[in-house]
Amino acid sequence: MAIHSDSAATLGRARPAAPPENPIPELSGAWPLLGHLPEFQKDPVAMLDRGWREHGELVRFRLGTSKFVLFAGPEAHDSYFRAPEEQLDARAVYEFTVPVFGRGVAYDVAPEIMAEQLGFLFPALRDAPMRRYARIMYEEASRFADALGEEGTIDLPVAMNELTVNIASRCLLGQEIRDQVDSGFAEAYHDLQEGINLLGFFFPRLPIPAHRRRDRARRRIAQLLVRVMTERRRTEAAPEDFMQALMQARYKDGRALSDEEVTGILLTVLFAGQHTSAVLGSWMGFEMFRAPVWVARIREEMQEVYGEKGTMSLASLKRQSALECTVRECERLHPPLILLIRKVLQPLQYAGHTVSAGTLAVVSPAVSHRLPHLFADPERFDPQRFAPPRSEDKQHHYTLIGFGGGKHRCMGEKFALLQLKAIWTVLLDRFDFDPAAQFPAPNYRSWVTGPRPPCRVRYRRRPQASVFT
Ligand code: HEM
Repeated sequence: MAIHSDSAATLGRARPAAPPENPIPELSGAWPLLGHLPEFQKDPVAMLDRGWREHGELVRFRLGTSKFVLFAGPEAHDSYFRAPEEQLDARAVYEFTVPVFGRGVAYDVAPEIMAEQLGFLFPALRDAPMRRYARIMYEEASRFADALGEEGTIDLPVAMNELTVNIASRCLLGQEIRDQVDSGFAEAYHDLQEGINLLGFFFPRLPIPAHRRRDRARRRIAQLLVRVMTERRRTEAAPEDFMQALMQARYKDGRALSDEEVTGILLTVLFAGQHTSAVLGSWMGFEMFRAPVWVARIREEMQEVYGEKGTMSLASLKRQSALECTVRECERLHPPLILLIRKVLQPLQYAGHTVSAGTLAVVSPAVSHRLPHLFADPERFDPQRFAPPRSEDKQHHYTLIGFGGGKHRCMGEKFALLQLKAIWTVLLDRFDFDPAAQFPAPNYRSWVTGPRPPCRVRYRRRPQASVFT
């Protein structure tokens, strides 16, 4: 006789069990208390790569008491990037930036206000201002190249930093700030950058000397920017740059941005875009210096685009597709942001697993960009993988994620590409390079992963005539 389950319960028998939990597998090798921290500190990318090899798309790991889950591979990225802010929260993770960017902007405000604030910059990223930036990028790179003389050595990341600060100060902050780069701005910006450190990540207000210098530098930069805004209003000057786009913007309720808000948004964008570009520009150099055949192809393309004597423009840079593939390949092999992190506020389901609230959800461009089923021979520098017919990045929306994805996807990607192409076009036009040391290892101690020193490079002016007028 069949027994109805309710009757079974009444008779004291167990109810059918709930479907079994399907726990996310944990990476092997955790230490008591410390979890995976020692291994992570040594080489986070190798550790996470081991996680993917052991368990696939989702793997748990622990750093001290903090619990993390890695999402690896395009489908897992898709679920991560599409999750709403109420479920995967960026703000909780980037709170340490508030003393640098300032109150009332970016991660100090609700996500929809941050999105509105960053949206004010879209007019400054349209084709018309981009055409102007392309000229500025060419001028700054040429000025830098002219000052190098016939031959010598440079520290490549230092050089890239100088170039990208000069370009960003002109395109983002305005010519007025560019004029003051050497008389105070660069020094204050450096102190502000030093304020983003590991200790500050956990205790952003701790009264240590680096944080006192950070706060002093922020006040100094705010004064400089407010002075420029006041002067622009007085003279009714309206140059095409990010600062002006913000000064002219209005919130949905019609309110203009305060000077303090303009300052904060400019600092957010400067921090998001300058160091990342400098680091990727440095990796590009090191990869190209050991691929002379590919450099010859890039120079051949320069001849095709510029002829005997050409002019650099937005349109000409867009035509340099071999160089663009080089940027993409360096983004793949050396993404400046190796970890994107969100706090899980509401449980997230993926592939039959539940990532529980309180966990930190991680996507690692550095790990995902070397997955062997997505990229052929993934350790190899091979820019042509991005050219048709191979187009390896087009297999899935989220195969190449060096600029992130979803709501927080980088808004400066086109600017960054343009800048890196402009810089390397000028440098390869003028010089031959030769690294003075071995290929550098990645420096995981910094928030943005650049090459670890020594990074000196020898250069010699090329005897060939320049392709530029
Ligand atoms: C090679 C250079 C760059 C790289 C590799 C890069 C990478 C990224 C990545 C991975 C994100 C997403 C972060 C996350 O999801 O947590 C991001 C966001 C962002 N990037 Fe970039 N970026 C670069 C250059 C730039 C430039 C030049 C600008 C501005 C002109 C910029 C502005 C921003 C902003 C404002 C965000 C935050 C967007 C948001 O949260 O809504 N970036 N970038």
